[in-house]
Amino acid sequence: MTADGIALVTGANRGLGRSTARALAARGMRLVVTHRGDAAGAEETARDVRAAGGTAAVMRLDLADPASFGAFTAELSGLLERWGASRLDVVVNNAGVGVFGPLEAVTAADFDTVFGTNVRGTFFLVQALVPMLAEGAHVINVSSSLTRHTSPGTSVYSASKAAVEAMSRTLAAELGPRGIRVNSIAPGPTATDFNGGAMRDDAALRDGLAGQTALGRVGEPEEIGDAIATLASEGLRWMTAQRVEVSGGVLL
Ligand SMILES: NC(=O)c1ccc[n+]([C@@H]2O[C@H](COP(=O)([O-])OP(=O)(O)OC[C@H]3O[C@@H](n4cnc5c(N)ncnc54)[C@H](OP(=O)(O)O)[C@@H]3O)[C@@H](O)[C@H]2O)c1
Repeated sequence: MTADGIALVTGANRGLGRSTARALAARGMRLVVTHRGDAAGAEETARDVRAAGGTAAVMRLDLADPASFGAFTAELSGLLERWGASRLDVVVNNAGVGVFGPLEAVTAADFDTVFGTNVRGTFFLVQALVPMLAEGAHVINVSSSLTRHTSPGTSVYSASKAAVEAMSRTLAAELGPRGIRVNSIAPGPTATDFNGGAMRDDAALRDGLAGQTALGRVGEPEEIGDAIATLASEGLRWMTAQRVEVSGGVLL
């Protein structure tokens, strides 16, 4: 990550995407804030960035629709040109979705939604963006602490994130010769809208999860945003193909 570099964060209209965009902007990066339909939320993120003296643009991107990625990258090229740049320095594949329930309750449509977004969407977006990545760029894929520990009712979601981690390691090997790093970051339970806002709004669930962490609480979105921005920093330029968990030490 270089000051004045350009970072693209998917699903940055709210939650961890927004906190990541803010944290990267605080370190001097220009931001491409994507959303899949919540333009107002994305504009709010962009406003936060601009209010802090940064530069941000908003673009629509639906990860469930890889056929649209060609048009997306064409529009992105135009944006970079207007910014006097030609390459991306950081890509944070943050957008993701979970469908939770016991084995017997999960439908094929649920499965396809989760894998279609978290795995297929992430993979083909990286494929589409690779020609636009600068030498020395960094791809950060958002996984979950659930790839290390288990929680009943999360099998499809945690499997999708395990696939994200496996793909990150392989892509690190494929893209390493171009100087591109690929790492995954695995947040633990964090207070966002995720899963209907359960980790933030359901006091019993939140307290139960807090009791499972070494630090005694669930995470705040800013703590994940800061971790991602730190991972993207030059100080970690020699680190690739790693999974970094940021979970307050959940279920150690
Ligand atoms: N919060 C946690 O406890 C936690 C823990 C571990 C990992 N994570 C991961 O962290 C990431 C961010 O989660 P969050 O907590 O910020 O949850 P969130 O508030 O539910 O945000 C999810 C984001 O992903 C976007 N998204 C979902 N499907 C999409 C699609 N098909 N195309 C484009 N964007 C799509 C959402 O867009 P819309 O606003 O349009 O729905 C939203 O911007 C996810 O990958 C999640 O799996 C979260």
